[in-house]
Amino acid sequence: MKRLICAGNWKMHKTAREAVDFFARFAPHVANIPQDVAIVLCAPFTSIPALSRTLTGETRVFLGAQDVHWDRSGAFTGAIAAPMLREFGVRYVIVGHSERRRYFADTDETVRMKTAAALEEGLTPIVAVGETLAIREAEQTEQHVLAQTRAALDGLDQNAVARVVLAYEPVWAIGTGRNCDPREAGAVMAKIRAAVRGLENVPILYGGSVTAKNIGEYTAQEHIDGGLVGGASLDPDEFANLCRAACR
Ligand code: PGA
Repeated sequence: MKRLICAGNWKMHKTAREAVDFFARFAPHVANIPQDVAIVLCAPFTSIPALSRTLTGETRVFLGAQDVHWDRSGAFTGAIAAPMLREFGVRYVIVGHSERRRYFADTDETVRMKTAAALEEGLTPIVAVGETLAIREAEQTEQHVLAQTRAALDGLDQNAVARVVLAYEPVWAIGTGRNCDPREAGAVMAKIRAAVRGLENVPILYGGSVTAKNIGEYTAQEHIDGGLVGGASLDPDEFANLCRAACR
């Protein structure tokens, strides 16, 4: 059985109180989720302190953030630095999500700097890459995803690359209910793994309209090691079902 990661990306959902309520309902399910699955909750910044307290002593569920700044401190109004996340026990952080690239002007270069900053602080970056529909229709998916991946990891040594998690998320599949064919997604990931040095043992997650119904088809692919899950991670019962189904 391969090790899997099911990471929930809550996006801009849940107040701190709602996050704690989620976990109260999720916790009883954890014992029924196979040990091979690492569960990550990528919460909004404001929920992190409360979740951090709630997760004290919890060994199966890890706290994640959805973005991080590339500097450790400085004049960057509104931004959050890696040491601030570490202070609350955050272990993972998503960088380069397509919504950050689209609405907040993240570029390949800032994604690279954020990835390096996360690693430097001992956080595991979940580096998100993926093509738009226009790129897919132009049959440029592999080149695009490969270029994004290479840019994000540029300058890192092999040991650092080995500590990254990659998430392949076709932009057209995010939040649309139009998920990518699992074999196609698996093929793209196989290509990335083969083409970029150091990715041999790095977990690669699929993201884009993942549900409890379809996650098993993804994790059945050789090069898919779990899911980055938006909508289906918001409900504790549904997300627990998904985490269980990932192993089938
Ligand atoms: P979705 O989002 O599961 O709602 O499609 C995935 C993501 O954006 O990470």
